[in-house]
Amino acid sequence: MLPGPTNVPERVMRAMYVPMINHRSDDFVELYQKCVENTQQVFKTSGEAVCLSASGTGAVEAGVINIVRKGDKVLIPVNGEFSTRLAQMIEWAGGNVVKIETQPGQTATLDQVREAFDNNPDVSSFFCVWNETSTGTMTKYLDRIKDLTSRNDAMYVVDGVSIVGGEELEMDKWGIDVAMTGAQKAFAAPPGISPICINARAKKHMIEAPPKSMYFNLPRYFKYYEESKHTPFTPALPLLYAYREALDMILEEGLDARIKRHRTCSAALYAGLGGIGLEPFADTESRSTIVIALKYLEGLKDKTFRDTLAKKFRVLVAGGFGDLKGSVFRVGCMGEVNRYHVMRTISAISSTLAMMGYETDTAAGLAAAEKELDASSL
Ligand SMILES: Cc1ncc(COP(=O)(O)O)c(C=O)c1O
Repeated sequence: MLPGPTNVPERVMRAMYVPMINHRSDDFVELYQKCVENTQQVFKTSGEAVCLSASGTGAVEAGVINIVRKGDKVLIPVNGEFSTRLAQMIEWAGGNVVKIETQPGQTATLDQVREAFDNNPDVSSFFCVWNETSTGTMTKYLDRIKDLTSRNDAMYVVDGVSIVGGEELEMDKWGIDVAMTGAQKAFAAPPGISPICINARAKKHMIEAPPKSMYFNLPRYFKYYEESKHTPFTPALPLLYAYREALDMILEEGLDARIKRHRTCSAALYAGLGGIGLEPFADTESRSTIVIALKYLEGLKDKTFRDTLAKKFRVLVAGGFGDLKGSVFRVGCMGEVNRYHVMRTISAISSTLAMMGYETDTAAGLAAAEKELDASSL
């Protein structure tokens, strides 16, 4: 139940157990083309898809250095660890960063974003962390940013690392120019492949002035794909096999059904964990459907709690980041997550709390969760 890496289905694990192939062969073309085309389907884009052999940070950094040019004014909501990192990357790329800052646990409102656009008519791009994994918050108006970016053709870039595949995304329809994720999150694949999608406008922008980077030079990836359906550098072959299998599973389930499952499971987790006496860290309107951050009860020690949960019940959850270390813990609700994971997590957390001397009501928590699951027939 970590917010990544998540459980990987056995079918996906098995897909990796294959002999190495030549990455300049027809076998590779068959593998990689399928990865690209199915990635486009998940992101709902007819633009380019590059499946980078890298962690999510690699894809995010690629998005930054291929879009941001020295002196560009870049707007970015900042409310946690990953948006802070993104702002830092943009600064390092020479961007003039204008932060829309909110408290951790809150997301900037659409009005705040609109005001930032009003105050900065010379903005070159808008970057946004869709799901702030460090605090369990999620931006819920990605479909309404296009009206703002289109005022002066600003680029629109979305770090969707912990959420793509688990929530609704319409990259082309919503006017998103660049978006990326990491395979180890809602795709339920092993870490190491991070897809990044780029629409025609952003592709043109990148080709006009490619970054001074060898590995993350996206125009180089476009050229290789166009000419031979290859990647410029040796890809992580076993991980690509796993990634292809994970994409097959996503499309077999259907994106709508998958999103519904994620939403139902998070509603059940919020209800159930609330039922046993825990309080979410994020404001109600900002709460993520993919990562649930919870406040620790008074006196509860992070390490003892998570170690007990892991050792006695084999349920893994994550601690907090930076200033939130020791005051929150985070439950991932992504990938394979289903009724079983939800019910087991609630009962394991409740039992751990009881073992540590806290008053808790496991039955009430499970009943609240079940109500949500039953309402969606999950
Ligand atoms: C929103 C977001 N961006 C970027 C990253 C970085 O991904 P990785 O750790 O795979 O490099 C993460 C990881 O959790 C994330 O949640």
